[in-house]
Amino acid sequence: MAPPPPPPAAALTWELADGIAVVTFDLAGEPVNKISRAVKQDVLATFEALERDAAVQAVAFFSGKPENFIAGADIEEFVALTSAAEAERLSADGQDLLERVARFPKPVAVGIHGACLGGGLEFALACRYRVASDHPKTQLGLPEVQLGILPGASGCQRLPRLIGARAALDIILAGKVEPARKAFRLGIVDELVHPAILKDVTLAAARRMAGGWRPKRKRRGGLGGWLLDGNPLGRRLVFRAARKQVLEQTGGHYPAPLAALDAVEYGLKHGFQAGLKREAQLFGQLAVTDVSRKLVQIFFATTALKKDFGMANPAPPPPAPVDVRRLGVVGAGFMGSGIAGTAVAQAGVDVRMKDADLPRVAKGLAAAREILDDRLKRRRITRFEHARLVALLSGGDGYAGFGRAELVIEAVFEDLTVKQQVLKEVEGATRDTAVFASNTSTIPIARIAEAANRPERVIGMHFFSPVARMPLLEVIPSERTAPGVIGTAVAFGRRMGKTAIVVKDSPGFWINRILTPYMNEAGHLLSAGVAIDDIDHLMVGFGFPVGPITLLDEVGMDVAEKVAGVMYEAFGERFTPSPAFAGMVKAGRLGRKAGKGFYTYVRGKKGGVDQAVYELIGVQPNGGPRPAEIIQRLVLVMLNEAARAVGEGVVRTPRDGDIGAIFGFGFPPFRGGPLRHADDLGAARIAGELERLAERYGARFAPCEVLQEQARANRKFYP
Ligand code: 3HC
Repeated sequence: MAPPPPPPAAALTWELADGIAVVTFDLAGEPVNKISRAVKQDVLATFEALERDAAVQAVAFFSGKPENFIAGADIEEFVALTSAAEAERLSADGQDLLERVARFPKPVAVGIHGACLGGGLEFALACRYRVASDHPKTQLGLPEVQLGILPGASGCQRLPRLIGARAALDIILAGKVEPARKAFRLGIVDELVHPAILKDVTLAAARRMAGGWRPKRKRRGGLGGWLLDGNPLGRRLVFRAARKQVLEQTGGHYPAPLAALDAVEYGLKHGFQAGLKREAQLFGQLAVTDVSRKLVQIFFATTALKKDFGMANPAPPPPAPVDVRRLGVVGAGFMGSGIAGTAVAQAGVDVRMKDADLPRVAKGLAAAREILDDRLKRRRITRFEHARLVALLSGGDGYAGFGRAELVIEAVFEDLTVKQQVLKEVEGATRDTAVFASNTSTIPIARIAEAANRPERVIGMHFFSPVARMPLLEVIPSERTAPGVIGTAVAFGRRMGKTAIVVKDSPGFWINRILTPYMNEAGHLLSAGVAIDDIDHLMVGFGFPVGPITLLDEVGMDVAEKVAGVMYEAFGERFTPSPAFAGMVKAGRLGRKAGKGFYTYVRGKKGGVDQAVYELIGVQPNGGPRPAEIIQRLVLVMLNEAARAVGEGVVRTPRDGDIGAIFGFGFPPFRGGPLRHADDLGAARIAGELERLAERYGARFAPCEVLQEQARANRKFYP
């Protein structure tokens, strides 16, 4: 039997203004509005009251939250679902509610300011008229597939009918969230206005509709759009192309986009009501999958990280964290310019770059500017904003302008002496309160800080390449770094749009620590006769975005070799670099940036395996071990090192370790990260397999103490 409905949430209030009911949704005690069962009851009760009240001629609907409209259905609610049938009912209830909103006898206009996502957008789509504020906070989208589910409150039916199948699939299948301006261009919202007049314009629309006016919508996309969307043959082509793309992108690991495609297609073929039914069924099936559970865990872990500034005490002893307004960047190479451009684009800070000579500075500034140009091209910023941001970038061959910087990040050559020299120069050129961050990937921060007058203000900020695109930042305090300085680095990294994890000052930090054994193992497999592309295909099959050999080409063999050397020095035997890689750097095969690596590159485009590499390795491919064993060797060697590093406190929590691996190098999100994956496999099983591998291939596989202890005590990383 279905449980009785919860009491209404008392989230909606309304008042009458001149025949228009002005409804405000403001969920008490919550930072965002979300649609729970209790809220649904409240919406229902409110709309019933509005229908009954003869004085109400039309409705204007707003959020009472200053920064968001509606964040969607309450995700916590479907985490608690235990059966597909229960989940299907939840979806069908949401659809019913929105059907009532859509058929409401009085016109409803919504004024949208802030995030309007998932069920929030589905609600807006059920209303007759949508006005959005032209503000960066106003973002509209259907991110459900990112949580392993699909828009299950009629979004798969309403959006394609409003903007055409092609444009709707583009949003639904990728779980996209679009800025208000783009949503307006696509026809998702009817009017785009300055936030100051959002309320007035929405009220005016409600009033006009009350007077009998019906908004007219013209189908966007012109003749091309009609040919593809407007007739069955064109539509079939659209769906075929979309299905192919989804399969390519998900490798079959993520069921939600395919199910969403099915829900949209079915609805367009068999009608709205049949589509709703299908949508709810598929929602039910998806909501209880392991993939969805893992993706939801990642959502909550990332959300929790947003509030974690890496300091045990929220009010640390002085120095307090500072708000960075002016950033100095030393080193105008690839990393330095990436950091500079991203800082301007995301955080809007003033950036001063410095390098040894002016031509290098000019090149770095141009590269930083490209990040802004790209945003303009993708219409993420206006011409006006672009001009304003470009003006924030400047540079020189001296430290002029560094005196006012609150934070300086160095991205110079990876060499201790060079970095210490830069540190001394920066200390001489900045105020005593400035923070010095090193973008080193391997050198201990404590060693760099040995040269400092103010070691408590020295920290590591390890960005990944290319900075503008890679979402992770490792923040590395040394033992002497002040807690407030950690807060400054984490907060600034976050303003740059990065997910920041605070990790221990230990060789390779977290990412290179667990990635290096995996890369080395790929080398051992090459030496054993496994083909380059076989290794890559198998790991892509496991769920990585690219395989380890392609990753080496992307990172650059010179960089990888350097990291491998440092790790070997620090940890010895089990990190012995693979002999297969030994000749690569000498032969100039540095990877993509050199135009040759394990693969061929023609005008920047990756081609096939460069067969000449096998001669360099000294082995021709002969198949090597079984595919299952190849995967096992690569994965378990990483899990073993990850467990060991957790034991040493390299990451503060398993959550940080998993989020780091997912955002740092694309550990398959549907597996939840290396530590969740280890929990799923079970420590006893992993330890047993590792022992078997150690017998056959050597001590590098010997299970670490953490896994053995977990196996003995039947424990896990997560409770
Ligand atoms: N359900 C439950 N809790 C939610 C939520 C949701 N849909 N959206 C946000 N929250 C919670 C967060 O967990 C966080 O909780 P906490 O304070 O207890 O840690 C709090 O709200 C604030 O969130 P953020 O820290 O993320 O706040 P921001 O201002 O940085 O971001 C946001 C706001 C852009 C709305 C972001 O929270 C977000 O992207 N939310 C998820 C959006 C989403 O995926 N919606 C789809 C839901 S599924 C759905 O609608 C199914 C339907 O089709 C049937």
